[in-house]
Amino acid sequence: MVTAGMRRYRVRTDLQATLVGPRGREPLNLNALFPGAGQDALLRLEVGFGHGEFISALAHAHPHDRFIGIEHDDLRVTKTAHKCLKDGVANVRLFGAEAHGFVRDRLPPASVDRIYILFPDPWPKLGHRRRRLLTRSFLLDLSHAAAPGCRLVMASDTHEYAFQCLSNLSALPGLWRNSYAPAGYRFDIPTRFPSLFERHKKEEGCSIAYLLMERTGSPAPERLTWRRPDLSGLPPHTSG
Ligand SMILES: C[S@@+](CC[C@H](N)C(=O)[O-])C[C@H]1O[C@@H](n2cnc3c(N)ncnc32)[C@H](O)[C@@H]1O
Repeated sequence: MVTAGMRRYRVRTDLQATLVGPRGREPLNLNALFPGAGQDALLRLEVGFGHGEFISALAHAHPHDRFIGIEHDDLRVTKTAHKCLKDGVANVRLFGAEAHGFVRDRLPPASVDRIYILFPDPWPKLGHRRRRLLTRSFLLDLSHAAAPGCRLVMASDTHEYAFQCLSNLSALPGLWRNSYAPAGYRFDIPTRFPSLFERHKKEEGCSIAYLLMERTGSPAPERLTWRRPDLSGLPPHTSG
């Protein structure tokens, strides 16, 4: 269901479109995407940015870094472009895309310095779990895109999903170092720029599990086979 508040984002203005990256499957040309960015500008990626609170606030705080956001709900892409423009944020490029295909096809190898995956759709029903994004195949594709030293942050109030993600990352031999050893995760840490879901979940009194991993310099092994999902039958913002 599209709420009345979101209806206004059905039409994207030309100005909003300046922050939206082109569709396609070809690898991104990062220099063309961020002309004028400094040599040492970090590339930060948010997967499933939702209503854009986090990416717009972080990009505002780091005006010299480059931000790529992926979100398959086009209304949320336009809403986030609107929010960024309102906040004077120009260093983001938003892509209306399915995240696995985007990461696999479009991110150049070893290009990403920070990855944020905040409250990925948990698909709590057993029969729906195969729709979860953070599979070993997806995380391996992400490992190809991650530069040595890249940090990956994941947060979820579905603790079992966070542990599944941790287990999948740990199964990629030697690619990721856990920054929250020895437990491997932390609960309920304070965050500087809470996402919308994070704020809501904290207000509801939910406990949140956080992961922080760092990419090692080990080369990623060959990619796993992956079948492009057919999302045509699903409402784009279904959250399981
Ligand atoms: C539960 S919401 C969390 C949004 C935001 N990260 C937050 O913390 O407020 C999950 C978001 O991920 C998006 N999403 C889920 N699966 C995706 C996929 N495969 N590709 C791109 N976006 C996806 C959804 O449309 C939704 O906006």
